[in-house]
Amino acid sequence: MPYQQQKFPCKNWKLNYFEGDLMTEDKTSRGFTIWFTGLSGAGKTTVSQIVAEKLRSRGKKVEVLDGDVVRQNLSKGLGFSKEDRDINIRRIGFVCHLLSRNGVVAIAAAISPYRVIRQENRALIGDFIEVYARCSMDTLMQRDVKGLYKKALAGEIKNFTGVDDPYEPPQNPEIIFDSDQETPVVSADKIIVRIEELGYLEPLTASGYTKEEEDKVNDRLKALGYL
Ligand code: ADX
Repeated sequence: MPYQQQKFPCKNWKLNYFEGDLMTEDKTSRGFTIWFTGLSGAGKTTVSQIVAEKLRSRGKKVEVLDGDVVRQNLSKGLGFSKEDRDINIRRIGFVCHLLSRNGVVAIAAAISPYRVIRQENRALIGDFIEVYARCSMDTLMQRDVKGLYKKALAGEIKNFTGVDDPYEPPQNPEIIFDSDQETPVVSADKIIVRIEELGYLEPLTASGYTKEEEDKVNDRLKALGYL
């Protein structure tokens, strides 16, 4: 039975302490979802890949669901009407839900322009960290890596997010990064720190190890008579 459906206390929840009504569980062994949202070209893919690598190097199992990739398989055939975008985002949310509840870190990187659907996914998944990839329209149009803004402005692509289709920025995201003001690595580092603050990742000590790893090393050194 998935631990979300079990009653407290169950063996999959590592209880740290029990104080009256307050019971906290160790979230570092749980799966969760990092949900990137933002306009096309705002840095969702780039930053999500760096975050994924950083999490893997910290021992996490990570799966990235990128909008462009998902649209070639899971959401193949869907377009960019509100209805199709909603289906796409709900599908990604459902897969993130399945992965997260099985201990994987799911990372979604899709425009996901509608607030209500993102909120729906938040409610479904629970362990949900919303990351807003923010970037000024001026910079997006200058960058225009895929040449799509140019086409949208020329009317060659209709319903392009931010040009002639809506984008609803998150009102209360766990993290915002400004990709026109900082490098992708700086943004990724901020996200990692925030994930640590939220309790999903054990912070590294000054030595670069987790507290648990450092204790083990110290025990070993003591046993060998070095400490
Ligand atoms: S979403 O709205 O359903 O979340 P998704 O992230 O999957 O969008 O796909 C966005 C990508 O599709 C963009 O990065 C861009 O490459 C491409 N694209 C093609 N047409 C559009 C459009 N009308 N609006 C936004 N992106 C588009």
